[in-house]
Amino acid sequence: MDEAAQQSRLLSGFAKTIAQAKERAAQTSHETKIEAINFNFFYGSFQALRNISIRIPSNQVTAIIGPSGCGKSTFLRAINRMHDRTPGARGEGQLMLDGVNIYGDLDPVKLRRRVGMVFQRPNPFVKSIYDNVAYGLRVQGIRDRRILDEKVETALRRAALWDEVKDRLHKASGTALSGGQQQRLCIARAIAVEPEVILMDEPCSALDPIATMKIEDLIHELSASFTIVIVTHNMQQAMRVSDMTAFMLMDRETRAGELIEFGPTDEIFTNPKDKRTEDYVTGRFG
Ligand SMILES: Nc1ncnc2c1ncn2[C@@H]1O[C@H](COP(=O)(O)OP(=O)(O)O)[C@@H](O)[C@H]1O
Ligand SMILES: [Mg+2]
Repeated sequence: MDEAAQQSRLLSGFAKTIAQAKERAAQTSHETKIEAINFNFFYGSFQALRNISIRIPSNQVTAIIGPSGCGKSTFLRAINRMHDRTPGARGEGQLMLDGVNIYGDLDPVKLRRRVGMVFQRPNPFVKSIYDNVAYGLRVQGIRDRRILDEKVETALRRAALWDEVKDRLHKASGTALSGGQQQRLCIARAIAVEPEVILMDEPCSALDPIATMKIEDLIHELSASFTIVIVTHNMQQAMRVSDMTAFMLMDRETRAGELIEFGPTDEIFTNPKDKRTEDYVTGRFG
């Protein structure tokens, strides 16, 4: 075999290996992180969610949209068992994280370490910026100052806040920051403990457009490392930040929230399969 033929065989071998690696990467990056199968949720005798079945892929941004009261927050909160202390609130059916039932075999404390949450209103503690971010790490028992320093800096950098606060980490209280900075601080606090999933319930609804834009950019970047599920009533936001979109609606008679359609965001917005999705995304709903 001459040199050229050998080289070409080698190259096609490389190309094949690369193609295979890409395929593997594509498969692993779209693994299901959270899965619901006929999941129901009740507040006492009121059924707030009915037969929710969905597979939320890992390392992507999934947006949950739908009119007020359709159960978006209820579903989001069910994922890290935020309802545990609400009397009469209970889930039924399957809701799984990495294939393990959230309401069965997972310890809620361990679950919340893996599934972080960011709320509608930024809720920093009345503590220094540093102590806000170090909070969860200290709860985990980390005391070594060097490790804390490093993890706090990393989290603040990843939350795109480091440059704005690095000179006053110990001086300023988290509550002294602007609204947008406070929300990025809450994101830093959530990611400092390196969760696998971050749940966000309308994280920008209390923020101005510039602060909102910064959070949206951040969400996009963070999805490389985390699975993100974001509830938003802002459809433009869902279009801008999410890979996948779930559309929920409340059943008129029973008032239970149902999942109407779930798919890639561009399909949901440009080519929805269900008439109700189409009516909602085109603003004809109501
Ligand atoms: N703690 C609660 N107790 C009783 N009902 C509740 C509670 N929280 C929410 N609900 C009801 O559950 C339904 C879904 O609410 P929610 O999940 O907050 O909707 P969304 O976030 O889509 O606006 C609504 O009818 C709401 O009134
Ligand atoms: Mg809500």
